[in-house]
Amino acid sequence: MATKLIRNAVIMTMNAGNEVLKGDIAITDNVISAIGANLDVQADVVIDAGGKVLLPGFIQTHIHLCQTLFRGRADDLALIDWLRQKIWPLEAAHDEDSVYYSALLGLGELIRSGTTTILDMETVHHTEYAFRAIEESGMRALSGKVMMDHGTEVPLALQEETDSSLRQSVDLLERWHGAANGRIQYAFCPRFVVSCTEELLIGVRDLSEQYKVKVHTHASENLDEIALVEAERGMRNVVYLDHIGLAKPNLILAHSIWLNDEEKGIIRDRGVKVTHCPGSNMKLASGVAQVPELLREGIAVGIGADGAPCNNNLDMFQEMRLTAFIQKIQHGPTVMDARTVLRMATMGGAEVLGMEKEIGSIEVGKLADLQLLDLEDFHAYPSYDADLFSRVVYAATRGDVDTVLIDGEIVMQGKIVRTVDRKRVLK
Ligand code: GUN
Ligand code: FE
Repeated sequence: MATKLIRNAVIMTMNAGNEVLKGDIAITDNVISAIGANLDVQADVVIDAGGKVLLPGFIQTHIHLCQTLFRGRADDLALIDWLRQKIWPLEAAHDEDSVYYSALLGLGELIRSGTTTILDMETVHHTEYAFRAIEESGMRALSGKVMMDHGTEVPLALQEETDSSLRQSVDLLERWHGAANGRIQYAFCPRFVVSCTEELLIGVRDLSEQYKVKVHTHASENLDEIALVEAERGMRNVVYLDHIGLAKPNLILAHSIWLNDEEKGIIRDRGVKVTHCPGSNMKLASGVAQVPELLREGIAVGIGADGAPCNNNLDMFQEMRLTAFIQKIQHGPTVMDARTVLRMATMGGAEVLGMEKEIGSIEVGKLADLQLLDLEDFHAYPSYDADLFSRVVYAATRGDVDTVLIDGEIVMQGKIVRTVDRKRVLK
């Protein structure tokens, strides 16, 4: 058994009471085994936190690692034109190496900015290579190949037959679900209704039940997308997903901006989960999601940067601030307070992934997915009694992340990502 001890930290537990403690935490193998003042533990590795802030690692519930290399190619288009003119041709041009390096580069950026779990969506081909990069990086991840067996203007290279899309997904699932000590999971990723036949979606429904895995898709991101779904299927997005039996607790919807009351009711009543992507929603001019209302309804809402072309740096600190700002400017200063936003970035993400017993907070028995922040750089006042939640949400940046552990392993220390060699990625 390997034991690690982190000493003298200011621990933002993100437990049910959002308690902040001063003290030590012990990690036995990959699990938090003790929390307290002056723990008397024989440890193989001791990290002296010296008053640094220990937080649960961030959980990003919507990422496209395969798009990391596409940054800066499509900065002023709306969703459908952006996909047709830029993203789909670029995804069609991907090969094994470019998928691998795109993923590795994205994973390095995510770890550097304190993210320890992602829900990822790949492209049609070469997803095997993204999984290899995930495995090497040490990231906790749910990922899957994107599924696209339908739709206009999809490049030939991305067009799939229904059977083959389902079969390839199951092949990847059987190879990767539960890999790396359970750190890697498979998730079915039908891209969005616009790119999927009903037959494919029904196949995904049945297979996700059979294998007990998540379904990750985009829904109601953009008004043109909604119009396409209504024209073809005669229903709003979420109503259609419910109609074919996909609206269940294992369904995770990215964006979900333009939900009407019926759709919100379906999401709430069926236990469907939502991912908010504020940077992407603003950059693609998609709209403002109804996050405060969804939270009031008891719906689990996580946060994700989306692909790198949408948020540009995959940085949860930026996404947290945008989550707060975009609501405050519309609904006033108290509508999304810092505690709520930090919960969305940690426990909220865990709830979206159905992993609230395993990750999202610093509590004995939970997996050791942690980030240590050095906040001394930018505030002269050595006062952790000032509102630490506000400091983390409004003032911290990824440059303040010093050390990151995932599954009890140190994946970054002294601001160096140990598991991802940047020189190799950029060769
Ligand atoms: N909807 C369907 N595909 C995509 C994608 O790649 N990115 C975003 N933001 N929305 C999508
Ligand atoms: Fe997306």
